[in-house]
Amino acid sequence: QTVYLKDYAPPAYLVDEVHLTFRLAPTATRVLSRIRFRPNPESSSRDFFLHGESLTPIRAAIDGQEVRPDITEAGLTCAVPDAPFTWEAEVEISPETNTALEGLYMSRGMYCTQCEAEGFRKITWYPDRPDVMAPFTVRIEGDAPVLLSNGNPVGVGEGWAEWHDPWPKPAYLFALVAGDLVAHRDSFVTRSGKTVDLALWVRPGDEGKCAWGMEALKASMRWDEARYGREYDLDVFNIVAVDDFNMGAMENKGLNIFNSAAVLASPDTATDANFERIESIIAHEYFHNWTGNRITCRDWFQLCLKEGLTVFRDQEFTSDMRSAAVKRIEDVRMLRARQFPEDQGPLAHPVRPESYQEINNFYTATVYEKGAEVIGMLKRLVGDAGYSKALDLYFDRHDGQACTIEDWLKVFEDATGRDLSQFKLWYSQAGTPRVSVEESFEGGTYTLTFTQHTPPTPGQEEKRPLVVPIAVGLLSPNGDEVVPTRMLELTEARQSFAFEGLASKPVPSILRDFSAPVVLERAASRAERAFLMAHDTDPFNRWEAARSLARDSLIATIREGAAPDADWLEGLAAMLRDDTLDPAFRAQVLALPTQSELAQALADRGQTPDPDAIHGAVEGLKDAMARHLSDLAPGLYDAMRVTGPYAPDAEQSGKRALGNAMLGLISRRDAGALAARQYAEADNMTLALAALACLLRVGKGSAELAAFHERWKDDRLVMDKWFALQIAEAKPESAVETAARLTEHPAFDWKNPNRFRAVMGALAGHHAGFHRADGAGYALLADWLIRLDPVNPQTAARMMTAFQTWRRYDAGRQAHAKAALERIAATPDLSRDGAEMVGRMLG
Ligand code: ARG
Ligand code: ZN
Repeated sequence: QTVYLKDYAPPAYLVDEVHLTFRLAPTATRVLSRIRFRPNPESSSRDFFLHGESLTPIRAAIDGQEVRPDITEAGLTCAVPDAPFTWEAEVEISPETNTALEGLYMSRGMYCTQCEAEGFRKITWYPDRPDVMAPFTVRIEGDAPVLLSNGNPVGVGEGWAEWHDPWPKPAYLFALVAGDLVAHRDSFVTRSGKTVDLALWVRPGDEGKCAWGMEALKASMRWDEARYGREYDLDVFNIVAVDDFNMGAMENKGLNIFNSAAVLASPDTATDANFERIESIIAHEYFHNWTGNRITCRDWFQLCLKEGLTVFRDQEFTSDMRSAAVKRIEDVRMLRARQFPEDQGPLAHPVRPESYQEINNFYTATVYEKGAEVIGMLKRLVGDAGYSKALDLYFDRHDGQACTIEDWLKVFEDATGRDLSQFKLWYSQAGTPRVSVEESFEGGTYTLTFTQHTPPTPGQEEKRPLVVPIAVGLLSPNGDEVVPTRMLELTEARQSFAFEGLASKPVPSILRDFSAPVVLERAASRAERAFLMAHDTDPFNRWEAARSLARDSLIATIREGAAPDADWLEGLAAMLRDDTLDPAFRAQVLALPTQSELAQALADRGQTPDPDAIHGAVEGLKDAMARHLSDLAPGLYDAMRVTGPYAPDAEQSGKRALGNAMLGLISRRDAGALAARQYAEADNMTLALAALACLLRVGKGSAELAAFHERWKDDRLVMDKWFALQIAEAKPESAVETAARLTEHPAFDWKNPNRFRAVMGALAGHHAGFHRADGAGYALLADWLIRLDPVNPQTAARMMTAFQTWRRYDAGRQAHAKAALERIAATPDLSRDGAEMVGRMLG
């Protein structure tokens, strides 16, 4: 049951309008539909097919005449008139027992929906595909005090409410919420003077966690007007927080639904990182109103059309709200931690996949984050003005349509006159390109010669050269910038670029701002990188130079037991002392490569990674940092103390980040004394959680951990942190036992995706713990994935990606991982989601 992009055919019937009535009851909700269909002139097929899964049919009629359609597991077919007609149906569904959290389901007594990608077919019969767009009118009948759906409210009374969404939309954007909710309200006046009523709906008790999300929403609305000329288009905008949710959030038209972890925050309960993430997810979902909803996707292969663009837009938003340099570093760290392993392993797929079995398995870092990188490259190639011209044309030309990547690229070609046929390979060719560089200097001319190569990925043996924008600046040996950033366009397998008229051989700063999602293989000397770490004018590359020195120091320790790189430690000290540098940036410079990244780096160098050796090297380097920076750490810690009321803004959170990094170093030498004090005095979660982590790391903190539990046992989101932290800070030899013990805890509600991820995600993220030599980590995760799969296949399948790097390791570990994967594969009635994932990983 593989679906192929090449098989796309337009729908046989279009929908002019949809009327839905919901009679809510936990195990017997009735859904009545009245839908106006008409034959699609663009289609030659007259086969009438409606998707529908797990629906109990009650009745169906066409133009008022009862019909008996042919019903299968996937939907129904029926004889229909060769002219417009009205379809009516009634079905029964059971939200209460819907544990997959797809379609209409219940979360602690509250009704809610998740329809993207293909959940609407679990609500009623419908052409559940994004190229069928229609206005919806929805009537909800139920006891709940709050009854919400998409669009504008048109009527409300005792036990009912009606909503009308005038904007044609695909079914995946449908939403309904019913429950005992309270609103945090505000309003926004659009640029053209229309007042929009805003509400963030939460459970009673969560009112105090709404203010930040609301501020972020207003900032997003303002930003999209200012930067993209996009205004909001309904009278109301509602957001709802839901405790049981598979993903982060969902952009349903006028009714965004959020995982409560992605919207609720107070200084006591959420960290600075949580606040920043919430701000960006609120923005992301809001920005979908134009990039996703007004202009949607023709089919699910085009997912990156809305996701890549919307991630790119939310990244721009965060860069504008906070520090652009720090945001770029964060995004690249995330790309390397999540997208590179995907692109370099058995799950590699193009930004626009060409086939799938289960589309939910393709909401990936490649589609989202690499999809955003591709748009960033496009913007670099056509320039800011070209980009805005293209975007204006995109909104103009395609408003109200379901589009493709071809449509998207065509607006850039038409707006800028540029031929994008080679660039388009970024959408179809999987894998992370590797770019190497040689340099020469002769007679005042400095030449850089680049070679690009993309290793094969599953199903794609041969790769072609891509268009790679490479931002390069040149520094003179005394640290002046002699050639400011220039965008080189690498289009061939091997290509040279010359810089003329130079007095002396310059030091190149290559791939500034991470101008393309590639692995730069460059044998620059340590001295040269130390120089860039100190002098580069591009903040990203300053960070990158430091990062690559740290990585190479760790690799040298792992391979030949080398001592930590003293030049790097000296450079680090110099940067930490430099008060002209943003504290948030300095904190980023201190963060070491992840252990998984080191494993990949070793594998790339032909060495089988040993997770215990990697762990040991990282610990050793942190001890060396603690020693080397011991003179400056206490002073810097004090200097980063924030006075005045807590604010999760860039300035304060930067200080806390650097202060907490200092605490981490100090704790290694004072047995946690300062951390215990910080924990006791902390008046916000950022300081408290960091202190607790430091304590656990040095083998202390059991009293604090218990006190934390006592204080927060009724707060689900904080308890997720309590679960995850203990595993993250466990020693490699005890991470699995810690996770296993926590699954016995009465609060381990494994059917709640956040709680499941808090434990199993933390285990999978503990590199040395998960990849333990005896296979205990693999076995424990497999046990739980097998248990979760029939209950919630989406969340289980997503967590299976923990195994994607299994072929990197030694034969013993591989055998254990393979056995775990085979055990999952052999599970009777394994879901389509799970079967596709293990199948791809076993290859
Ligand atoms: N469109 C949502 C977002 O990017 C993600 C929803 C995906 N849900 C899913 N079940 N695959 O914000
Ligand atoms: Zn999205």
